Amino acid sequence: MFINFWYPVIRSQDLGATPQRVRILAHDFVVFRDAAGKPAVLSDTCVHRGGSLSGGKCKEDGTVQCPYHGWRFDRDGHCTRIPSLGIQARIPSRARVDAYPVEERYGIVHAFLGDLPEAERPPIMPIFEANDPNWRSHVISFEVPFHYERSIENGLDPAHNEYVHTTHGFQGERESEYKVNELVPEQNNPWGYGFMHTYDAPPLTKSVLRFSRRKAGKMQAGSGTYGPNQMWTYIHITETKAMHQYLFEAPIDETTTRVFLVSFRNIVFFKSGLRAKLNPWLDRKITERNLFVAGQDITVVSRVQPKLTPSSKARELMMPADKVISQYREKLDEFERKGWRIDMTRLKQDMARGDVIYAIPSPGRRESKSWVLESVPLLPASGPGSASETGKVTQLASV
Ligand code: FES
Ligand SMILES: [Fe+2]
Repeated sequence: MFINFWYPVIRSQDLGATPQRVRILAHDFVVFRDAAGKPAVLSDTCVHRGGSLSGGKCKEDGTVQCPYHGWRFDRDGHCTRIPSLGIQARIPSRARVDAYPVEERYGIVHAFLGDLPEAERPPIMPIFEANDPNWRSHVISFEVPFHYERSIENGLDPAHNEYVHTTHGFQGERESEYKVNELVPEQNNPWGYGFMHTYDAPPLTKSVLRFSRRKAGKMQAGSGTYGPNQMWTYIHITETKAMHQYLFEAPIDETTTRVFLVSFRNIVFFKSGLRAKLNPWLDRKITERNLFVAGQDITVVSRVQPKLTPSSKARELMMPADKVISQYREKLDEFERKGWRIDMTRLKQDMARGDVIYAIPSPGRRESKSWVLESVPLLPASGPGSASETGKVTQLASV
């Protein structure tokens, strides 16, 4: 799991007047709306004596109030009130919690969980259809019982559709004709790779989309990533009818992932003279279909071993159809070399002791070194110019 990326926190429609606790990257956060209704995301651990801020209240001054002794924190993480000191008290500068950059976009509250300055941050995945009136979208979220890297790799895998999804393939019944066709690069970007490919698809006899393509035939589909946890999937049912799905994944911990799926479609139906894409009933039907397809993935992927992707490439036998999965892993290695991967071995050891709690570092840590909670342990950077790389060169030179 990595710091320094945008993570989905909660659907906009699910965040009301009370603070909520959300677990991401094996850490707890509080998300709440300030006095102006803008979402804020802070480390959930109160720096006084460890109260859980999300168990408190939103106050009219836009702060969140700790349920234990009433300290208040604003959206920037600064403590604004310590009741035990009285109303005129001076607040010590260390009385602050990590506060994270927040963007509310595509119906989701996203938080940047890391300390990079704004100009260096990887992007929230772009959605090109977001303001296009010919497309309609809705957003759902659900949990899957596996590591987010396994989840993303499953989405980047063109060879599983034939076997796992009755809506996309023939369950391997066409042995002489079936193979995965060429993967054509699509939306390669500094943070990830993608592909499109053409495949033979069965007729959509049972699907809610059956009227969009009744016969078996060629379809195009593909997917790609922006960072470790954001993935697009395009399904082109015909040349003009398509579903574009955008997945923003929040690793809760190493074994559970919360998926936020923003599902776009340009499929237009005519019903009583109305463009039925404006009818909400289809959102529900599409959601049922998406959850049905996700359930087929969950059945298979929850039994994949090992639970985490193996650290050695030699422990799996990748094929050309797995090319984009390999490219995804290369990107993860690149992010690790930047020093952004959480040291899970140490984190788990320390958490098991029960006397330490860490915080994901926020941009505020670049301005001040004086923090109550320690920053989460990270694997050392090894890119050019990094401390560990310089150390390696020195070591080699002295051999
Ligand atoms: S623990 Fe939060 S106010 Fe005391
Ligand atoms: Fe799948």
